[in-house]
Amino acid sequence: MNFPQTDLPMFKTASDVEKIEIAVDGKSTMVPKNVSVAAALLLAEAIPFRYSKVDQSPRAPYCLMGVCAECLVTINDEPGQFACQTNVQPGMRINRS
Ligand code: FES
Repeated sequence: MNFPQTDLPMFKTASDVEKIEIAVDGKSTMVPKNVSVAAALLLAEAIPFRYSKVDQSPRAPYCLMGVCAECLVTINDEPGQFACQTNVQPGMRINRS
């Protein structure tokens, strides 16, 4: 079955979308424009996002809607930012811990 071609963004694949440059742990990384920091890091395979302060277990996004706090990262030198609630911007500096 052939599906009709569409320009709607939700039907584009990661390789089709415009990319922007960010820094992840100081390393230049190209990620899709107009996605959350969490989505960008997952697409860049930059996981885990952090390690638990309690037992040092690796952590990564779970809810992707601002509830679980498993996605906390440092964005532009501001620690404790919700990666799932922040849109990625060109030149953004993201550090995992
Ligand atoms: S993934 Fe749950 S708060 Fe961000």
